[in-house]
Amino acid sequence: MKVVRTIAEVRAVTADARWAGLTIGLVPTMGALHEGHLSLIRQARADTGLVVVSLFVNPTQFAVDEDLDAYPRSEDGDAALAAAAGADILFAPPVKEIYPDGFETSIHVSGITEVLDGLHRGAAHFDGVATVVAKLLGIVSPDRAYFGQKDAQQVLVIRRLVRDLDIPVRIVACPIIREPDGLAMSSRNVYLDPASRLRATALSRALDAAQAAVVDSDTPAAIVLEAARGVLTDAGVEPEYLELRSVHDLAAQDTIGDGALLAVAAQVGRARLNDNRILEAH
Ligand code: PAJ
Repeated sequence: MKVVRTIAEVRAVTADARWAGLTIGLVPTMGALHEGHLSLIRQARADTGLVVVSLFVNPTQFAVDEDLDAYPRSEDGDAALAAAAGADILFAPPVKEIYPDGFETSIHVSGITEVLDGLHRGAAHFDGVATVVAKLLGIVSPDRAYFGQKDAQQVLVIRRLVRDLDIPVRIVACPIIREPDGLAMSSRNVYLDPASRLRATALSRALDAAQAAVVDSDTPAAIVLEAARGVLTDAGVEPEYLELRSVHDLAAQDTIGDGALLAVAAQVGRARLNDNRILEAH
């Protein structure tokens, strides 16, 4: 695996690969890699001929009161993990390579960014995500780009972005990878002290309880939300949001219908955690 830091180097490698007839897979990350990230890299390895993993802690998607400075950074370990999972190229640019002096553009996806994380973290979060992902897609020109369903709203924002801007890439959403006790893997889990780590399992347990409360497609949102909230309350976790929404466009959903996204976010100790599950009636 080769580590590259400049856009010119990425373009040189991808041009050669395309000339050789290889398809290209891109896995965007902010590093502190764990099994969730590695599952995306392995999927890209299985599907494509050249696997590019980007490692860039994107400052524009952090609000001023968020954890940009504290965000875990471990490039050497990440490089070893990415290589073992099948990456060919690790693109780890300095901030100035992505945002040179005079950078003036921001991409705003409307609608689906106005709820859940977009509402609670502030609109600038998804502007930062959309802008950096558009840049990475422009730099790498992958055939496929891989994202985790862990950030379900992010996947929808990126699908909207590539559709609206006619970016020729297939967006592949990969399942959520969890710890044995159900906690969704996240780079931010390192912020959890032992007591918070235990309480953090309430999020996935709440989602499971909600699924268990589903009777059929007419089951009201209120019933599943109550089941989930009960688990959170018992664990002393106050959700920032806990909402049932359409899997397609995040519209509010009154019943399970033919499948609905239950999304939760909560501050647990020093970590802001989120998790989600598609509830199904069967
Ligand atoms: P990051 O949080 O590093 O996540 C990189 C990718 O890994 C995202 O697509 C995320 O959904 C996925 N991922 C994280 N935890 C996962 C888990 N437990 N199971 C499956 N996939 C998981 O998301 C970002 O970075 C950034 O917003 C980025 C897209 C790189 C733009 O800066």
